[in-house]
Amino acid sequence: MLKPQLAEFMRRMDPKSVAIIPAAGEAVRSHDTNYRYRQNSDFFYLTGFEEPDAIAVIAPASEKKFTLFVRPRDPEREIWDGYRAGVEGAVRDYSADESFPVADFDAKLAEILDGPASLYYAFGNGSPELDSKIIRQLSLMRETNRKPLEPPAKIIDPTTIIHEMRVLKSDAEVEIMQRAADIAAEAHVEAMKAVGPGMKEYEVEAMLEAFFRREGSAGPSYTSIIGSGANATVLHYITNMDTLHDGDLLLVDAGAEYKGYASDITRTFPINGKFTAAQRDIYDLVLETQMSCIDMVRPGVRLEDLKTHSVEMLTAGMVRLGLLKGDPKKLIEEKKYMQFYMHNLGHYLGIDVHDAGRYYFNGESRAAEVGMVMTIEPGLYISPDTKNIPEGFNQDVPAKYLGIGVRIEDDVLVTANGARVLTHKVPKDAQEIEALMAK
Ligand code: GLY
Ligand code: MN
Ligand code: MN
Repeated sequence: MLKPQLAEFMRRMDPKSVAIIPAAGEAVRSHDTNYRYRQNSDFFYLTGFEEPDAIAVIAPASEKKFTLFVRPRDPEREIWDGYRAGVEGAVRDYSADESFPVADFDAKLAEILDGPASLYYAFGNGSPELDSKIIRQLSLMRETNRKPLEPPAKIIDPTTIIHEMRVLKSDAEVEIMQRAADIAAEAHVEAMKAVGPGMKEYEVEAMLEAFFRREGSAGPSYTSIIGSGANATVLHYITNMDTLHDGDLLLVDAGAEYKGYASDITRTFPINGKFTAAQRDIYDLVLETQMSCIDMVRPGVRLEDLKTHSVEMLTAGMVRLGLLKGDPKKLIEEKKYMQFYMHNLGHYLGIDVHDAGRYYFNGESRAAEVGMVMTIEPGLYISPDTKNIPEGFNQDVPAKYLGIGVRIEDDVLVTANGARVLTHKVPKDAQEIEALMAK
């Protein structure tokens, strides 16, 4: 059976049109070895096909609606690189109406482009070679105007349909994402229980990722961030080489990819199992803000209003703690909170960790809808460096907060009744964390 996503894509296409959607190529890691292959997210979403060098041709008005160009079976290559579905498998297992070796694509391109009124193709989307083949073929057909050729008059970016579909998850997708979330949440719990002074950040990384793989995940859905002490104030810290010190916090931002879908969790906890008073000040403020934002999630709430709410709560709290000085309203107007809270509240989550889809329509922030999955991840990051604070920001940061970084991140599904927290299995209340670590 055709994937429901592909059927829906066809339904949304112009009636007399054709779409050309390429798979991702292999990516060289070094010299003659490649990274583990990962399919292009849009191609995977529509076809479920996980091999490189494939092209999907989708023509809803044709008798053959779905054609897959694939690598043919090849006993010699399969000894080295493994099984290929081949043209038989493309029809048998991926519901293609017909399939050809990908080497035949060039010869068939003229035929594919002759007739449809619109072509769906995303130029500039990672395949310059295919881009130029299509441009060449189109211009050749336009030049040949004394023959009865009909090249498409209209070119449409297919991601205008696909990415909009990807924003709203089906029940089947939510089920997979719940599993991706559970795997990551359980791994975080294991890490919390195991962490102690003297361990290395990379040992924590290894523990999380071993857990992911044991549970059938493909691995992390992005490079795990394991930041102890002041490393937690570096937003994309991925070196993960330092030693964990008694008295410091550890920020773990790690998610699992399962059946092609990402989870994305951050927890921050004390390395010795007990928060200090100063750490609690920051931690509780971030947690209170995070839970209040999750409470606000419901269909109709504008995504920008969630962010504004987090800015208001964090700014008021930072004034209370002496991290910022002055009138909260003015501090927000002048964006002074960005000294310590410099990223967005969250993002869509799905096949990509920062998933596809628009956040604005006509310059207006989009409202949450049932079926969206997004992260809620406020944080505060207080650099240990007091010498290079840019002018206009608070130069007089209380010493007890220097080098503290806290982020708390959950994945939520928007339902008619509000947020369903997919990542609820890993504790975030400070006392609950301490109790878990004491075990
Ligand atoms: N780990 C990437 C993010 O939280 O957005
Ligand atoms: Mn995130
Ligand atoms: Mn994250």
